[in-house]
Amino acid sequence: MPDPHDARRLDVIQGAYGAIAQRGEASQAITSEDASSLWGYSSDEMASVPDGSNLGLGCGNPLGQAVIQSGDTVLDLGSGAGFDCFLAADRTGPDGHVIGIDITPAMIARARSNGTGYPHVEFREGSIDDLPVESESVDVVTSNCVISLVPDRREVYREAFRVLKPGGNITVSDTLVTQQLPGLPSLVADPAIAEIAYLIYAGSFDDYLAMVAEVGFTDIEVQESKPIPAELAFDPTVEETLREQLGVPKAIITTAAHSMITFSFIATKP
Ligand SMILES: C[S@@+](CC[C@H](N)C(=O)[O-])C[C@H]1O[C@@H](n2cnc3c(N)ncnc32)[C@H](O)[C@@H]1O
Repeated sequence: MPDPHDARRLDVIQGAYGAIAQRGEASQAITSEDASSLWGYSSDEMASVPDGSNLGLGCGNPLGQAVIQSGDTVLDLGSGAGFDCFLAADRTGPDGHVIGIDITPAMIARARSNGTGYPHVEFREGSIDDLPVESESVDVVTSNCVISLVPDRREVYREAFRVLKPGGNITVSDTLVTQQLPGLPSLVADPAIAEIAYLIYAGSFDDYLAMVAEVGFTDIEVQESKPIPAELAFDPTVEETLREQLGVPKAIITTAAHSMITFSFIATKP
């Protein structure tokens, strides 16, 4: 029987990101181009992708360190409107294949309509902790600012490990709340909501990397880990969802925002 907590969480994620997909921009405070340039994307990269595929939703540039060869199959976890998929597609060339996975139907629809000129890019609806992808079929996995939205992050890395070919690599940019937020679950009455609100707590970066290694990844190289500017920590739509739909107090969100880091790393499946 479907778990009602999972159904509630799905509703919240699809509601928040569906609204962003329809609006066509994440933040009213900063343009998508300015946000992406802050995370290290060049103006040439931004100009090379279809209009409307960069929604300013990233928190790093995983493609900056990804090792992608011509002809490779690349899988992007939480592909949004397709920004990183189209950049990856330029590097795989037409003999390669790029698959974007997203759980929000409105994002998939937007990405598919953006990608009409890219026959070697496809978008599949699904969850990154249960990938609709064959085992050992992918050369490179990328992900930008998504894994922190999934409660069982270990399962996401297990799934990435399963679908990668031996010798394949994964590059991830994401955020972590590094300060514990005690009392958060008791601040929200509905247990399903408490579980969703728990998404804003993570733990130490060392513990996180240890978990990635436990799944089996080797040669983990951290490219970057630094505090995120507090005003960019939560997308305004997501923050509004946390506050208004989930009842997370503003003080907790502010504390989380001030203890958030952004990081990028690459690792290998031996
Ligand atoms: C912050 S956005 C990042 C989008 C994209 N990576 C980018 O940089 O533009 C997060 C995306 O992850 C998707 N998402 C959230 N949870 C997911 C899950 N469990 N499985 C697949 N996609 C998920 C959301 O629908 C949203 O499109």
